[in-house]
Amino acid sequence: MADTSELLVPPHHVAIIMDGNGRWASSRGRPRAFGHRQGVESLREAVRAAGDLGVKQLTVFSFSTENWRRPAEEVEALFELLRRFVAADLDRLADEGVCIKVIGRNEDLSDDLVKIIENAEARTAQNTKFKLVIAFNYGGRDEIVRAARRACRDSGGDLSGLTEAEFAKYLDTTDMPDPDLVIRTGGEHRVSNFLLWQAAYAEFVFTDVLWPDFGEADLKAALEVYARRKRRYGGVNG
Ligand code: FPP
Repeated sequence: MADTSELLVPPHHVAIIMDGNGRWASSRGRPRAFGHRQGVESLREAVRAAGDLGVKQLTVFSFSTENWRRPAEEVEALFELLRRFVAADLDRLADEGVCIKVIGRNEDLSDDLVKIIENAEARTAQNTKFKLVIAFNYGGRDEIVRAARRACRDSGGDLSGLTEAEFAKYLDTTDMPDPDLVIRTGGEHRVSNFLLWQAAYAEFVFTDVLWPDFGEADLKAALEVYARRKRRYGGVNG
């Protein structure tokens, strides 16, 4: 019988912890913000390559609820990058059929940024070819607590009959499929508060490649590792 184990079955949803921008910049004697700027180029390339490789959704960790601990100028640079990314790429992404969604705690964002995000989401809401989810001011624990508060409010305080599926509707990722594959660049082997609920059965691939150096070949290599994994969801191998 033919060996089909090498055939690439692309994951529907890939999530990426884009780590290593700071080290990439420091190794070049440049400020950390320079690495984040280059990271946006890698993000553009990742969206394009993911679509080409048959992936349908990409969720990227752009700013965590813990990133506020960074120097103010780096925080401001990351906020500015989101503004500029939307300003520069929204028309093209909208035309290419990409649906954009931003997840995270938007209470802490400035009114102008909230408007930019809402506009990008509304403008691309009908697109179905590819979904780009930007986790911005996002933390998995924060998302779960916010969801629990909303579920509690809606139920009048009695959550005794709440199911997993019902609870998941209160998460920022409501109606999105869970990630099949989580990639972390930059050599660390941690989940760092990313998609804690959603990644329950995701496969993880870690690479030492720093995010600004991550390109199509690296994504393809991660998808190949994924394709060889046997997912069991807590059951036994068939
Ligand atoms: C982690 O690298 C990366 C981040 C905290 C931010 C990631 C952001 C981008 C790639 C660009 C933002 C894109 C948009 C659309 C806003 P690090 O700084 O922790 O790197 P290090 O581990 O080398 O210090």
